[in-house]
Amino acid sequence: MFFRRRATQAEYFDLPGRPRAEMLESYEALASVNRLFVFAEPFQRLLTQFLGHENCRSLSILDLGAGDGSLGELLTDWAAKTHGWAWTFTNLDISIEALQLGGPARRIAGSALALPFIDNSFDLVIGSQMTHHLVREQDVVQHLREAWRVCRRGVFLSDLHRNPVLYTLLWVLFHIRRYPKHFREDGLLSVKRGFRVNELRDLALRAGVSSPHVRLYRGSRIVLAAMKPD
Ligand SMILES: C[S@@+](CC[C@H](N)C(=O)[O-])C[C@H]1O[C@@H](n2cnc3c(N)ncnc32)[C@H](O)[C@@H]1O
Repeated sequence: MFFRRRATQAEYFDLPGRPRAEMLESYEALASVNRLFVFAEPFQRLLTQFLGHENCRSLSILDLGAGDGSLGELLTDWAAKTHGWAWTFTNLDISIEALQLGGPARRIAGSALALPFIDNSFDLVIGSQMTHHLVREQDVVQHLREAWRVCRRGVFLSDLHRNPVLYTLLWVLFHIRRYPKHFREDGLLSVKRGFRVNELRDLALRAGVSSPHVRLYRGSRIVLAAMKPD
């Protein structure tokens, strides 16, 4: 079977000390792919369905692996303009350089494996395309445990589903549009480091996340949603 196990090869993206110009180039390329794959859509549609619109009026949200914070910026704007909701983001990333590329939102440099917050600090903890950066199962479990610990209401993660169709789609995209070589290689590797539904559900249960809903979404994403009991 294709991609039976997650790849363990490191992504160039995660190399510390990369020059600012190259990081800027990577995040611009990521923004372009994110636009094509409408990366905010699972948060706009599924997350709000999961929470219920009544519960979306005012939310404090921690974005894990936020990078340049573009997801938070987009969602804050969208929530306010489309629904009149007040969403406040805190962006956390292991890379200070990535956070420095972003706008004025609250930014915290730190690891998703040891969150520098007390229990129940945020209404929601979210992550987009961050979890697959962790290779070891125990690290994924620790990341999910930490996300669950610091949220008051729930966790919502969107990442790459490990499947050959998505891999082929990206391969074709990278042959018809110009992207930096290191970005193309990382993009394909990211799919091989993605998750399958049962894997992510098992890891969430091991992390103590109660009743995790994990599903394949639009053939390319894996989405994990879990709410704490009232
Ligand atoms: C592919 S980027 C995703 C950026 C953004 N969330 C998006 O969807 O466009 C993955 C991000 O996760 C960050 N990251 C990787 N490992 C991390 C960790 N252990 N803790 C926090 N951030 C991490 C990287 O620095 C990078 O900014």
